[in-house]
Formats: sequence, C-alpha cells, structure tokens
Amino acid sequence: MAIIFNEEKKMFHLQTKKTSYVMWLVDDYVLLHLYYGERLESLAGLEDTVNIFEESGFSANDYNLEKKDNLMSTDVLPMEYSFFGSTDLRKPAFHAQYENGSRITKMKYLSHTITASKPKLKGLPATYTENDKEADTLEIKMHDELTGLTLIYRYTAFNEYDAITRSVTAVNEGTQKINIKSIMSLSMDFYDNEFEFIHLWGGWGRERYLERTPLIRGNMNIESRRGSSSHHHSPFFALARKNASEEQGEVYGFSLLYSGNFEAGAETYNREHTRVYMGINSFDFNWLLEEREEFNAPEVVMVYSANGIGEMSRTYHKLYRERLARGKFRDKERPILINNWEATYFDFDEEKILNIAKTAKIAGIELMVLDDGWFGKRDSDNCSLGDWYENKRKLPNGIKGLAEKINALGMQFGLWFEPEMISVNSDLYRAHPDWCLHVEGRGRSESRRQLILDLSRDDVCEYIINILCTYLENAPIAYIKWDMNRNMTEVGSAKLSPDRQQEIYHRYMLGLYNILETVTQKFPDVLFEGCSGGGGRFDAGMMHYFNQYWTSDDTDAVERLYIQHGTSMVMPPVFMGAHVSAVPNHQTGRTTSLKMRGDVAMCGQFGYELDVTKMTDEEIEEIAKQIKYYKSVREIIHKGDMYRLKSPFECNCTAWEFISEDENTVLFSCFTAQAKLYLTENRIRLSGLEQTADYKRREDGKIFNGGVLMNNGILIGELRDFESKVMVFDKIIN
Ligand code: GLA
Repeated sequence: MAIIFNEEKKMFHLQTKKTSYVMWLVDDYVLLHLYYGERLESLAGLEDTVNIFEESGFSANDYNLEKKDNLMSTDVLPMEYSFFGSTDLRKPAFHAQYENGSRITKMKYLSHTITASKPKLKGLPATYTENDKEADTLEIKMHDELTGLTLIYRYTAFNEYDAITRSVTAVNEGTQKINIKSIMSLSMDFYDNEFEFIHLWGGWGRERYLERTPLIRGNMNIESRRGSSSHHHSPFFALARKNASEEQGEVYGFSLLYSGNFEAGAETYNREHTRVYMGINSFDFNWLLEEREEFNAPEVVMVYSANGIGEMSRTYHKLYRERLARGKFRDKERPILINNWEATYFDFDEEKILNIAKTAKIAGIELMVLDDGWFGKRDSDNCSLGDWYENKRKLPNGIKGLAEKINALGMQFGLWFEPEMISVNSDLYRAHPDWCLHVEGRGRSESRRQLILDLSRDDVCEYIINILCTYLENAPIAYIKWDMNRNMTEVGSAKLSPDRQQEIYHRYMLGLYNILETVTQKFPDVLFEGCSGGGGRFDAGMMHYFNQYWTSDDTDAVERLYIQHGTSMVMPPVFMGAHVSAVPNHQTGRTTSLKMRGDVAMCGQFGYELDVTKMTDEEIEEIAKQIKYYKSVREIIHKGDMYRLKSPFECNCTAWEFISEDENTVLFSCFTAQAKLYLTENRIRLSGLEQTADYKRREDGKIFNGGVLMNNGILIGELRDFESKVMVFDKIIN
C-alpha cells in the first residue's frame, strides 16, 4: 500500500517512489499538514517537529483539546485544507454562505477510506490508472454538523509515476441550500518561505514564457478571469528552493487539470510560513448546492523533486503522456501533417488544396489539414461560425469529395472546426440569438467578430455534438483541429435562473468537457488537436481529450524556442504541435534557415504550414530529408526524457537533450538566436547519461565517454545567427 494510516500516531502517510506526504489528525478533529518532500521510511519524531500549542498572539483558539490545558490556534499551524469560519484567517480554501446568511464553516474529521486504484472524477478531466497496483487513493471525510456540509478530500499516490493528485468534493447532506463561494482543489502550508516562484505567463503569440521570482511577503497570485485558462497565465506553478537549478535542489510543482477561470499562488505570513493554493477562480463564482447535491473541484497534480526543475518536468511529462492522455494515439506515432492556414489563409479552393497536398505528398507528408474558411460564407473572419455547411464555391465536391481526393493521393485528411463559437453574421445566430453567452439588455461585445455559444445549455451542446458527429460519420476525416478564438465577456445565460448566473463559467467547462468526451470516445480513430488562437488553452485539463495542441500561432523558429522551452516545464514535447512555416515569418518577419525551422519543430509534434507549391525542388528535397530524419528520431523525443541544458531566457543559446526510454540513444539539439563570438556557450554539458558508458556519435562515428559529455561537455563550434545543430549518440553496449 502506498498509503498508510498510522493508528497510533493518527498520521496519514502517502508514499510514492521518491516522496512522502504526511497529514496528522489531531484529537480526531483537525487535520494538519505535516510534511511533503523526500520519501520517509519512518515517521518517528515527526510530531515533535510541530508545536501544536504554538503561541498565537492575535490568533484566536478554536479547538479546545479536552485532555490538555492549552489551547491551539489553526491560524498559526500548517493546515491541510483551510475553511473560512475557523480561526485560520489566512487565505481560505473553502468559503460558503448558508441560508441564514452565515459564512461560518467548521469542519471536523468524520472518517476515511483507503482503496487501491483511482476513482473517476465525474465530468472532469483526471489522471487515471491502468491497474490497481499503480496507485492508492485516500478519501478523508470532513463534516460540519450544523450545516450538514461534507467535504471529501481525495488524494491519489501514484507510486512509480511519483506524483500525488488531489481533489475536493462538497456534498450537501443537510436540509438547507449552500452557496459555495470558493472551493480550492489545493491548499497546503509550508513552514518557511525560502522559495522562488516559477510560473508561465504570456499573451497571444507569446505563450508560456518562463518567470522565476522570489516570493513576496504577501500574496503572489496568478489567475485567469477570461473564461479559459488563457494565453496570459497557465494553471501551473512551482516553488523552487533558492539554490534549485535544472539539475539540483528541491522543487514542488502544482498543475491544475482545468481549462476555465483559475487562481493559484503562494501567500506568506508573519511567521514566514507559506500557503500554496490552486483551484477554480473564486472571482465571480458562486455555486448553489441544493440538498443531496455534490460539487467536484478539479484535480491538482503535485510533483516533488529533490533533484531540480528538470526532474520535476520529466515526472510530469511521463505521467501526462501515459496517464492523462488517452486513446489510440497515446502510444502511437502521429501522421506528419501540413496545414494550409499560413499557405492560403481564407483564399483557397479545392484545386489549391489538392495542389498543396500533391507536392506535400512528394515530400513525404502524410496528412493534409484544411483550416478555417471552408464553411458558410467565410472569406474572412467576420462571419459564418456556426454555419457548418460546406462552401460549394470553394469546395464544389464538399468536404467528403475533397477528403476522398486527398485519400486517393495516399494522404489522410484533417479538418478545422471552431465548435464553441457563433458569428453574429450567421444563419445560426439569426435562428438562435439566445444561444450565445449574453446578458439581457446589454450589448454583446464581439471579439474577432464572434460571440461564444452558451455551453451551459444542453441543447447547444447537443447541436455541437451532432454537427461534429455528422461530419465524422460521413467523410473520411482522420484529424480534427479544435479551435477557440476569443475570451468571455458579458457572461450570462438565457437558461439559468438569476441565482445561478455565477455558475456559468464552470457549467460552460462541464458542457465542453462533456462534448469532448462524447466525440473523442465515439471516434477513437480520429486524432484531435486542440487550439485556442495557438496555445491559449493549452492546459493539462485539455490534454485528457486532445492528443496534441497547437502550441502557438507564432511559428517563428526563434520565438518557438522560448515558447516550447517554457511549455516543457509541465507539458511533454509529444503534446506540442510545432510546424515549419515560411520565411520571412508571418508573425515576426524574421528569416531563419529551413534547417533551423525543422530542427525546432522536430522537438515537438512535427508538421508544416506553408505553401509547398511555391518552394523549389531543392527545398522540397530538403523537406523530404527532414521528414526521413524526424521519423528516425521521433521516438526519442516523444517517449524519452527531456533535459533542458540551456535556456533561451538566460543566454543566446538554447539546448535540449532527449534520452530514449531504453536509455540507449541520446538526441542533442542546440540553437542560437544571436551569435556571439568566442563564448563558452560553445561547449555544452550533457545530462542524465551513464557516467562510465561510451557513446558513438551517429554523424561522424566518434566515441565519447558519458562522463566526458556530462562533465566536460560537447563542443558545438561557433554558431551563426539562427543556426542549429543536432547530434545523436548511441550508447555502446558491450
Ligand atoms: C486561430 C488558430 C490558427 C488558425 C486560425 C484560423 O488563430 O490558432 O492556427 O486556425 O485561428 O482562423
């Protein structure tokens, strides 16, 4: 069992391969958080590291322990989960209002269960097990007698995957209505604040830039109020010890499996304690919980690494690609695609698409994706979303006819959709003006000339499911690109009562998850790629449904170094859609070599997005070589371990390394943005190799010792602006 309840000490001990997580049930009442870190084999003495009667000036005492004279205060103790109404006046994880207007919640331990494996989280994305031996689950029931509210704290310890997941369920077991105002998925206290905060921020075309900053004495908060996890912040952060680097030091990662409004952060207090929290954003949130109803908060995945940030990322990568991602494509190589967006934008017809496909086929590309503009009257982004019938002027033979012609070329066919949206200029909007999010009597603010369908409504969700199913059933579509191109404003629903209007953001997400679950389960042979103006909703929640995600609309190879580097904090390369596009780049105007564009894109889920019919024979030949090469190394990148050797955020050079699952092959790639002469960056130390083994470089047959590569480094020579180098090393097995 990876979870033990120590009866004598009243401690819950969750163990994974390398970590321990300990909670202490004091007086059968209050649950303290005692420890999270390197695996402990014994808990001897752990209770003596906490003084539960710690002096508490200006902190009230709310648990009178009968057997002792002293009083304790939850305001100064490390709490496992905090609720407003106790004497803990730090940021509460749970806050509710009851029928008599009271906001006081007092939770007392009721019971607990420990079971093998992991139960499903109803309606929400979650990690999963494939057999009962992979993980154990602990459920602790806390109850408030006066209000009848029960909170279930749920923890799963994945042993080999070395991660712990958490979620919380609220159940109304009383007789009154409860308004939940805040329900975090994670709240946890650390005894000190010697940390730095690592998070991912950005904007459209600049997603998941890395920032590392000391904690402030106050609240360090990242959040989204946009109705989507957003381009601006990611539902992920890490606390790293000040000395922690990629290779060493303690790091705690927190990743939320949710795609809507979230909040997360770290608050430090007068005693230099730190409280971390993460969950659905309580801003503009209220959930009315009627008698017998329950509410599930989304899952958080916690990863502790004693060996640096790199190890934390590798743990996330493996867990997410093997126990978050699902379906046939989880373990399968994906087709190499070409997308027509940057080649044609809205200006295409069947002939143009077929010509692109024909040339792409010569180069070895396997899947032709038709992007935006194939439906309704859509020749620009100002109309037709919702009118999902083919534009016969552009596609006289419809989607089916085009898909069949592409198939006849020996390629698969993929199609772009933006199912959650509705254009004001559309037949759908004229027929159903109340189907979008809106507030009666207020204007409807457009973004990209579109509004958002109200996915809190069952009829709207059914409409979307039907449209998608009809296309997938009637045409040979092997791939769907699922886009979502705006954030929410005037969030209101015509169907919900006034007292439930603040539920819409979350009901929208539940509606969306349900659509995604239905469609992806019904069409297991279709590859689904997520997109939201690039990587605007590229979060762990989405990756339960999509096998890959369009990482950014910025396809410039240099910008992609930053974006892919930051994204790799938590997302594995196999999730990251990455395409070679034309130069000068359409977003930045920068010109980089075809080699560098290829080498950067190969570090993700490889594809092309340019007009191959305008390329020379030599360039098509080069593409053919890239594809051949990519096929020979992709398994190392997609299933192997990633090491970030040099960060674009810190120097001119970016270097990544991937070690194959069997540890026998190593792919090293490095890139320069701005060449600097005579810099030591020209020698880069590798990581994670076998110290005593020898490795043979594929490119020239030279032999290098693992110790030499790791301790002395590899010489990469002078790289010019926008140059890249890739090397593969095979371990010599005696
Ligand atoms: C978004 C996507 C692009 C493209 C366009 C089409 O911006 O991120 O890749 O599909 O929409 O309108």
